[in-house]
Order: sequence, then structure tokens, then C-alpha cells
Amino acid sequence: MAEDAPSKKATAPVLYGFNNTDSLSEGLASFVLAAQDEALKKQSTFKLAISGGSLPKVLGKNLIERKDVSWDKWEIFFADERVVPLDHEDSNFALNDEHLFSKVPIPRQNIHVIDTTKLDDPEAVADDYEKQLVASFVGSSSIAFPRFDLILLGIGPDGHTCSLFPGHPLLNEQDGWVAWLDDSPKPPPTRITLTYPVLNHAHRVAFVSTGEGKQEIMEKVLDHPEEGLPSSRVKVISPGRVYFFSDDAALKLVKYERTEFQSNFKL
Ligand code: 6PG
Repeated sequence: MAEDAPSKKATAPVLYGFNNTDSLSEGLASFVLAAQDEALKKQSTFKLAISGGSLPKVLGKNLIERKDVSWDKWEIFFADERVVPLDHEDSNFALNDEHLFSKVPIPRQNIHVIDTTKLDDPEAVADDYEKQLVASFVGSSSIAFPRFDLILLGIGPDGHTCSLFPGHPLLNEQDGWVAWLDDSPKPPPTRITLTYPVLNHAHRVAFVSTGEGKQEIMEKVLDHPEEGLPSSRVKVISPGRVYFFSDDAALKLVKYERTEFQSNFKL
């Protein structure tokens, strides 16, 4: 099937388990670079969306030391962002800057940040961010949704991902690319987030979740997707796929079958 004509089916997620966060960081870096290589075979930039939380540290740890990275071709968006100044301690940009961007030569103009002149108007921030996506993804023909090469997500202890929280009306958003909320149960309350249709149109989505504090939620998300937690609702349309990168501590209660991560990983 042609890459730009996905079927409506989703393929079962792949679970990679690692002994510890160091080996996970190394595997994750290899996976990201395989996604980069796949993308650059067919286009001039690698389009990545990235979250906040514990992810940036785990991601940056090994990746910043890798030699085989075409940093100048990376184009970064945020899977979700808190509507705060970019140097605020709650900013996902600031967190990713600390652990990754400040340590590698990604061109600053390739990192798509929120418009901080509109912080008192989250709808305007979301609209502006959607326009940035449109400018990047829409070529000569119109598209219903963008197709990221890779979206990296975390899983909250309540099963949220991006800023898509259990029971929130945004779980049902089917039209827009970027949505906003001012009632996030996890502070800060005002945020923007990619919507499910955008997550589900990606070439691949990888969840990164580590530590014993995630044991119960990983068991729910992986072994009981029928409960419909926000993280379980990410169902990437085939030939795209969902991947989980977790450590033994987070996977203690999980029965879902693991796939061995090969050190010479290729997509
Ligand atoms: C945010 C994050 C959020 C995060 C999860 C998991 O802005 O709040 O993007 O979606 O990924 O809360 O965070 P932890 O990995 O820190 O548990």
C-alpha cells in the first residue's frame, strides 16, 4: 500500500523491554535514528513531535553522544506544550532544551515553539501552532492530517498522554490538528495538545515509560486496552505502528508479549 494512502486498520503495538534506563536510552536512540534514516530516504527533513515529563532526559542521555545524526535535517514540534513562557520551569520546550536541544546542533528555526505573545489566549496559541504545522506539512495538495515521521510520548500515572486526560472532552476531538485546554488535571492547567487523528496518522508513535511508579498503569494500558485509557486510545493507522519502550521496573505486572530489541535495529 502506498505510504500516503493508509488503510484504516491499526497493527498491534510492539513492546520493547529493557533491563534499565541506560539500555533503554541506547535502544531509543537507535530507534529514533532508524526513523530519521527512513524519513530522509524520501524527504529533506525528519519531522518529530516530542513530549515533556520524564521523556526528554531519557531521550537525550544517549542520543546527544551519537555520531550518526543529521541534526540539521531535524524539524521538531511539541506533542503537547504548556501555555507558559519558554523559559518557565513548566515549559516542555525548556525541558527539552535542557536535555537535548542545547547540546546538539538542531537549527533553532527548525524547533517549532508556541507563540508567547498570546499566552493569555490559549485558543490563539493553538491556532498559531496549527498554522505552523500546516506550513510545514502541507505541500501542493491539501491533506486531512499531517503524518509525523515519529511522535514520542509519555504515559502519566492516570494513563494520560500528550495533554489528553481520562474523561476529558478532547478525547473526542476528531477534526482539528491542535487543541487547547485550560482545565488540565495535571498542572499547569493551560496547555495545547496534538489530537488523536494527528497521533493516529503518524508513521510511528513510541511511548516511553520507566520506573516502578508506572507498574499499575502499564499493566492497564498494555493488558487491558479495552478500558480505553487515553494512552490505549492511540491506534496508529497501518502501515504506521505504536511502540512501547519500558524498563523492567515499569513492566513488572505486564503480561503483554515483549519483542527483543536488536542492537542493529532497522525499521
Ligand atoms: C506534559 C507531558 C505529559 C507527560 C506525561 C508523562 O506536558 O505534561 O507531555 O504528557 O508525557 O505526563 O510524564 P512522566 O514521564 O513524567 O510521568
